[in-house]
Amino acid sequence: MPEWPNGRDWKSRVGSKSSTEGSNPSLSVFYLEGNEMKVLAFNGSPRKNGNTYHAIKMVSEELEKENIKVEIIQVGSKAIRGCIACYKCAQNKNMECSINDEVNQWIQKIIKADGIILGSPVYFSGIAGTFKCFLDRAFLVSSVNGGLFRHKVAVAVVADRRSGGVSTFDQLLHYLHYAEMLVPSSNYWNVIFGRNPGEVLKDEEGIQIMRILGKNMAWLLKLLKNGKDKVIPPEKEDKIYMSFIR
Ligand SMILES: Cc1cc2nc3c(=O)[nH]c(=O)nc-3n(C[C@H](O)[C@H](O)[C@H](O)COP(=O)(O)O)c2cc1C
Repeated sequence: MPEWPNGRDWKSRVGSKSSTEGSNPSLSVFYLEGNEMKVLAFNGSPRKNGNTYHAIKMVSEELEKENIKVEIIQVGSKAIRGCIACYKCAQNKNMECSINDEVNQWIQKIIKADGIILGSPVYFSGIAGTFKCFLDRAFLVSSVNGGLFRHKVAVAVVADRRSGGVSTFDQLLHYLHYAEMLVPSSNYWNVIFGRNPGEVLKDEEGIQIMRILGKNMAWLLKLLKNGKDKVIPPEKEDKIYMSFIR
């Protein structure tokens, strides 16, 4: 019988479904199924069921195969205004943005989640406007409150017609890296091609990118769930700010 670290009985912790998961059936991977994991996917497109949604779904399907729950939150069609640089979040340190709208509820949901998916359509080679408004506010609140999103698993996906996918993907990664999130990869940049809603379903390479991304994300989530109490995470360092003002 495999020994559970810290003298715990592994049998009582493994869910009723198969405990030998993953691509290699000879490897027994025991993970905490009882303690369900949850990922939030933020759709930054104003088109609820457009190409960004399909990209998110492709990643989500792989997570769901591994019993990881996914909730999609529609952001791009909401009236979300941008950060007004009032810095009240930094003064109050109450995990809230001073503009009291849905962004505050979403911040709270991220805090409780194990991971996030950020999905944006490409607009003029960048993140769609409304989505950027949300990201600027949520990630500033996270930062000034000691890193609320730190060490959660996070991925970014983008949909475009022709070009600007990589620059948009890079922009999304800036948020994830700043927040010290753990970012799994695929076998290419996470971009899928299509113009009208559903066209991405013809982009075979893009579909593979999303599928591999979902599998890698699920694996990392399970590794963390099983390893967090065995391998001590690094301590959070206070951020050093240099403004280069002389
Ligand atoms: C305002 C606007 C700007 C766009 N800019 C670009 C662009 O720079 N590059 C590109 O390839 N596609 C661009 N597109 C096309 C969208 O990225 C593409 O249709 C994408 O699939 C939309 O995803 P969605 O269906 O999730 O909304 C633009 C679309 C709009 C509405």
